[in-house]
Amino acid sequence: FDLHRNSSPASAERRAQIHANPGFGVHFTDHMVRAVWTKDGGWGDGRVEPYGPLQLMPSAAVLHYAQEIFEGLKAYRHADGSVWSFRPEANAERMQRSARRIALPELPTQDFVESLRALLAVDEPWVPPAGTGETSLYLRPFTFASEPFLGVRPANEATYCLIASPAGAYFPGGLKPVTLWISQHYARAGAGGTGAAKAGGNYASSLAGQLEGIENGCDQAVFLDSSTQTYIEELGGMNLFFVTRDNHLVTPELTGSILEGITRDSILELAPSLGLTPQERRIPIQEWKDGVASGEISEVFACGTAAVITPVGELRWEGGSAPSTAGEGGGEVTKAIRTALLDIQYGRAEDTHGWMTRL
Ligand code: COI
Repeated sequence: FDLHRNSSPASAERRAQIHANPGFGVHFTDHMVRAVWTKDGGWGDGRVEPYGPLQLMPSAAVLHYAQEIFEGLKAYRHADGSVWSFRPEANAERMQRSARRIALPELPTQDFVESLRALLAVDEPWVPPAGTGETSLYLRPFTFASEPFLGVRPANEATYCLIASPAGAYFPGGLKPVTLWISQHYARAGAGGTGAAKAGGNYASSLAGQLEGIENGCDQAVFLDSSTQTYIEELGGMNLFFVTRDNHLVTPELTGSILEGITRDSILELAPSLGLTPQERRIPIQEWKDGVASGEISEVFACGTAAVITPVGELRWEGGSAPSTAGEGGGEVTKAIRTALLDIQYGRAEDTHGWMTRL
């Protein structure tokens, strides 16, 4: 990665100001990574260059046919000052699967991880200091069709970029339980579609349902399977988990239309060490409604890289509602899983799974 330094980087004071109140996805570091792929030449040399506007023809295919994929992962500062990421190879591999589904070029795992290191080599001071709560540097790799061409076919030119953004809590309310809305008119993805790919289009398709939820006083929407509108899929930006009275940790099985969350997968792996039996299966939405009423379901939470683990406080739908997790900050099991995961990520617990990679 060729380094082209930003000649006017943010001052240390400005960075400290941002670290004190990062929000999510609003502030960006001084640099970004960019590499261009062509059908004839493959991946060209990558550059680390000043963060700034991209030059793109109005005819660039991504602007018309949404040929775009992305990833999300975080860099965490440990108490000794070192900087680590969580399962970056899993993100690289998922991005390769997404690339195959959206007909974009695959970036090899080694280049993916090297791009993170190249950006961190120059923007390391942007990783929030240790001991400032759950702050991190959110890393956003993405690849899009940059070829100026209006024919509908896989683009012959694509661009990979990596940008980074200091991050605090994803939801402005912090750890407050979120209220979810059952999206009955809009599905996020369908059988054979792109739901399992981390493609921008899936997020666009989730917005009308989310808007309907917001109009009904909710924070996010729950999407159901598109063919029967019976089974719980995911939230559009997060996967869902249910804690049962008999200590099962249940999450919708991967059907091809659900995003294969890395946080989801890690929680399933952590479950036994917390005395929980993990279970992936189809979960009817009716089971949620009945389960919280009968006490069979004791806690509900959502998970993802950006929002980590967020307790779900209530489920609403047209004509009804069901309260979930008791208490501010979520239930005891939700809190225990959250702590176990964050302790590994922030280096406070031994990384027995081999999940952490030093950047
Ligand atoms: C994540 O990184 O957790 C995402 O899925 C992206 C988005 C919801 C912010």
